[in-house]
Amino acid sequence: MPLIAICPGSYDPVTHGHLDVIERSAALFDEVVAAVLWNPDKAGTFAVEERIRFIENATGHLENVRVEAFAGRLLVDVAREIGASVIVKGLRGETDYSYEQPMALMNRHLTGIETVFLPGAPDFVQVSSSLIKQVCMLGGDVTGLVPDEVRDALVALRDG
Ligand code: PNS
Repeated sequence: MPLIAICPGSYDPVTHGHLDVIERSAALFDEVVAAVLWNPDKAGTFAVEERIRFIENATGHLENVRVEAFAGRLLVDVAREIGASVIVKGLRGETDYSYEQPMALMNRHLTGIETVFLPGAPDFVQVSSSLIKQVCMLGGDVTGLVPDEVRDALVALRDG
């Protein structure tokens, strides 16, 4: 039976930090689903279709990765539906752990699914979607921290 991992997130937009976690997951598991989910605490910047397209374009070389969106659904229900036996998240540091721990324990409480944490790549510890958006909106250069397509879309939003 193939081991399926789910890499969930808002991906608004995807960063090289996210892509590092997806790529490393693809090396560990038979199949990886990058799941674009709704975070009730975050207002969206990009349409879900755009978020999907950015991830698909950046992961096209990974044969065992697919991207899907699940609006208004619990992560654990999505995981069960796609047959995922593990949730994979990246941890950039202690703050991430404080944010992720309750979700990991709640998800395990709900269905027993485990969350596996991968240490964030040192090159991308400073990279989050919200910081990328803020820096770009205020004129900073985010080249190398997100795919070029994402940078161009952010610049278009800023200058639009
Ligand atoms: O990239 P983010 O915003 O940190 O990802 C958070 C996300 C989308 C994975 C989380 O909000 C989530 O799992 N949303 C789906 C709804 C859900 O299952 N909520 C209960 C989590 S314990």
